[in-house]
Formats: sequence, structure tokens, C-alpha cells
Amino acid sequence: VEAIKPFFTVVDFESGSFEPADRSERRYLSDLKGFFYFSEELEKAMERDNSLVYEVHRREVPLQAGHLQHCVTLIHPGDVGGEFYMTKGHYHRVTRTAELYLCLCGEGILNMEEPGGAATHIRMRRGVWSYIAPGWAHRTINISRDEKLIFISVWPGDSGYDYRTIAQKGFSNVFVRAENKEFSILRRS
Ligand SMILES: [Fe+2]
Repeated sequence: VEAIKPFFTVVDFESGSFEPADRSERRYLSDLKGFFYFSEELEKAMERDNSLVYEVHRREVPLQAGHLQHCVTLIHPGDVGGEFYMTKGHYHRVTRTAELYLCLCGEGILNMEEPGGAATHIRMRRGVWSYIAPGWAHRTINISRDEKLIFISVWPGDSGYDYRTIAQKGFSNVFVRAENKEFSILRRS
């Protein structure tokens, strides 16, 4: 395993600031083409204003087994035709690899499913520490109207990403705004 020196990062649980970040990615509505269920609504929203949906700030570590990648993710509040702002979601390319998410702030859903079709979700709120078992695709969703969803993630250095399966098939559970309850689930047929 590649030898590096120990280091630390300072995370602010309220603002999600992550210092120092070695790399930051920002995903706008236009980056999520093919991921939102209501594609016509997405086109309209992109024309109105191509809003920032989520941002990821990470430390760089070697992409190999033995090292642990880690980052903070902030999902802004909003929806596309009722479907909440969310991450693209992915499977790990190396299917034997798990991941941990610790929610720092906000209200959310961790949506997960298996290639065989099994689906489940965990309600994220401050202090909820979720274990994403090996083989499960994972996507996070901000169900708040006005607050950011902020969480930190830790995963094996060699796990890699498979976004294509999600772009092609989507998640079978689609989380949308609802009257008088936190959310409704649409089943993608
Ligand atoms: Fe992951």
C-alpha cells in the first residue's frame, strides 16, 4: 500500500465546510440529465436557471485497498417537478466494498437498491450513521424545503464508481414532495 503521512481535516457540522479540501466538485441541474425522473421538467428548470444541486469536497488519498477515501457532501434544497434534489447515485465498481455515511445536518433519505431489485431506504438526520452494505447502489436525497443536507462519507480507496447502471436503469424508488407528509415514493415501472 502506498505510504503517506497521517493528516486531518476540519469539518463544520452546520455549514459543511471541509478544510482543507484537495478537490471539489459541483453538480448543477445540467449535470443530472438522465438522473431525474421528470426529464421535461428538468429541461425547463435548466433553462430557467441551471441551479447548483450538490457539492462534494474531498481529500485525496491513493485509490487503492487499505486507504480510505472520505468527503463531505452538501445537497441544496429544491426539486424537479416534485422530485427532490439528490445525488446521481452509483454502485461501486468493486462490488465487495461498503461505505459509511454520517449525517451532520438536515433532513434526507439514503436510497439504496441491489441489482436483483431489492430496495430500501434510511431516513437521514443529524447523528444517523448509515452502513451501505457491499453490492448496494446508493443515492442521497434532500427532503427539506429550506435546509441543506450535509453528510460525511468514508469508503475503500479501490472501490471505484459505476454511474452508468443508474443512468440507464434509474432507482426503482423515486422520492417526491407530498402534501401533509415528508415525501411520497413513486415506483418506476
Ligand atoms: Fe459510494
